[in-house]
Amino acid sequence: MEKTKIIPYGRQNITKEDIKAVTEALQADFLTQGPRIDAFEKAFASYIGSDYAVAVSNGTAALHLCTLALGVKPGDKVITSPITFAASANCVRYCGGEVVFADIDPETYLLDIEGVRALLEDAPKGTYQGIIPVDFAGRAVDMQAFRKLADKYGLWIIEDSCHAPGGFFRDSSGNQQNCGNGSFADLAIFSFHPVKHIASGEGGMITTNNRELYENLLQLRTHGIVKDNTLYQNSTTFAGGNGAYPGWYMEMQQLGFNYRITDFQCALGHSQLQRAEAGVTRRREIAESYVHAFNGKPYVKGQSGVVEGHAYHLYVLEVEKRKELYDYLRTQGIFAQIHYIPCHLMPYYRQFGWKEGDFPAAENYYRQCISLPMYPTLIQDEQDYVIERIITFYE
Ligand SMILES: Cc1ncc(COP(=O)(O)O)c(C=O)c1O
Repeated sequence: MEKTKIIPYGRQNITKEDIKAVTEALQADFLTQGPRIDAFEKAFASYIGSDYAVAVSNGTAALHLCTLALGVKPGDKVITSPITFAASANCVRYCGGEVVFADIDPETYLLDIEGVRALLEDAPKGTYQGIIPVDFAGRAVDMQAFRKLADKYGLWIIEDSCHAPGGFFRDSSGNQQNCGNGSFADLAIFSFHPVKHIASGEGGMITTNNRELYENLLQLRTHGIVKDNTLYQNSTTFAGGNGAYPGWYMEMQQLGFNYRITDFQCALGHSQLQRAEAGVTRRREIAESYVHAFNGKPYVKGQSGVVEGHAYHLYVLEVEKRKELYDYLRTQGIFAQIHYIPCHLMPYYRQFGWKEGDFPAAENYYRQCISLPMYPTLIQDEQDYVIERIITFYE
């Protein structure tokens, strides 16, 4: 492999079909609220296995709409993982709620359910309102177990599945449960940022099996506006009709936002969705090669491994001399990345009292983790080069 080529940790893949789909959308009548949004939502819901899907402008907007729809308010306490992108926690703050972090399981890197259980057991009932587990790196959270725990304490669940379209776990009967399928979590969210499995530039999706939440999300996505004769609160006389609402009429019934996505972004997302499963299959092959290369190496302290249902948005190695490896790989054209700096230690969250030592597993993970290149178009030669450079660095 020539050394001049840059190998990033993740990248999008835009095909001729994608360009054709976007071009068609741009030449059609609607730039924003056109038919491709609905088509993408239906296709995505069908891929994930949820009843409903709501496409929005990005994953962060999806999270914010979820906390709004669930009625998070100042004083509410919501539990999430420190090893995630800040948006998983920030959505609680947008509504004035309090973020309570709990440690990760050092083997899976996911929010440790036992830590969450301990928090809930130690507090009077009613202290916490919700949990936001994250299918971090693409590894599926056992959402059935979280549902059981949440039900005991009357909590809602938002599953942050940004890393995991195509991921799944097996429930207690051995059935495959796709990340975000709505069987256990109240709401789940996805991101279509370029490094994710499905790219639409910016973009996001909320999935759910709850019709009431779905209908509310549709309103909140577009300013809290209602366009339905049967739901109006003002009189027809006020509206300007004679016993009926005039054609132009609509009502803003709650405070929403403009979190709409465009028709041409949905054309891209929908086109990419056709290759989603093939992409996950290829990611799993890449993971197998990494495992094969690094299993048993003394400088490897942990890794994502081969795990059934893992969607491998990221492939994480935990290593000795992580900083030196990171710097060295850059000199070799390999742009590995670190996911994530623990959220509770971001200056913004430190102001609420979180400090070093609060979550030993998350903090230890952060000291050692590095995300290796992982994307479907990573070719074998490139992966071999990445592996060879890492081995050369240590041996
Ligand atoms: C776990 C997680 N949650 C939420 C988000 C937010 O998604 P977006 O960047 O589309 O706003 C991301 C994206 O990076 C993410 O990785």
